[in-house]
Amino acid sequence: MDPTRELSREVVTALLEDAQWAPTHGMNQPWRFHVFLTLPSRAQLADGLASIYDAVTPTAKRDEDKRTKLGVGPRRASAVVALVAKIEPHGKIPEWEEIAAVSCAAQNLMLSAHERGLGSFWSSPPVAASPEFVRWLGLDDMTHRALGLIYLGWPLPGQPAPQSTRAPLCACTTWHEG
Ligand SMILES: Cc1cc2nc3c(=O)[nH]c(=O)nc-3n(C[C@H](O)[C@H](O)[C@H](O)COP(=O)(O)O)c2cc1C
Repeated sequence: MDPTRELSREVVTALLEDAQWAPTHGMNQPWRFHVFLTLPSRAQLADGLASIYDAVTPTAKRDEDKRTKLGVGPRRASAVVALVAKIEPHGKIPEWEEIAAVSCAAQNLMLSAHERGLGSFWSSPPVAASPEFVRWLGLDDMTHRALGLIYLGWPLPGQPAPQSTRAPLCACTTWHEG
């Protein structure tokens, strides 16, 4: 992504409006988007993730590369959306359905970003899916689940789009034909 190109609040708002059209059981609309758009807010996010990493990682398991990456990603993207699912413990709609709904919203967001020529990437370092991160966002960790980060930004000019592949459809599809 091109770190020199900014993303406007209007464009991010349009992406989130598209995200909201995800399916939602009981119209619960469990997605909560925490948007880090300005460089100071992205730096705060990066530093917050690094400090959670320090707090939750036993010394023997500390990996300096992983910690450094937490500090780089949010500074390099033009915007970061922390994805959160609002859940109701023991409620009518099970937690997995709310997480599925937020995942659909995430896909809508990324498709809308692609449509506008933006790059996006869903990343889930363990700290960004932790109850500590939920609390860092100012939310109750009993009723919210953090589902990682979506990085957004403009592709670097002249760079070919990243190539990706998927297994053939027959590897994951069973036709029940009677
Ligand atoms: C919930 C979720 C979390 C993910 N977390 C990571 C991650 O932390 N690191 C990573 O390299 N890819 C992660 N991915 C995969 C990438 O977002 C991406 O799908 C993958 O690199 C393949 O690229 P493509 O989707 O453009 O084909 C995650 C995907 C999902 C659905």
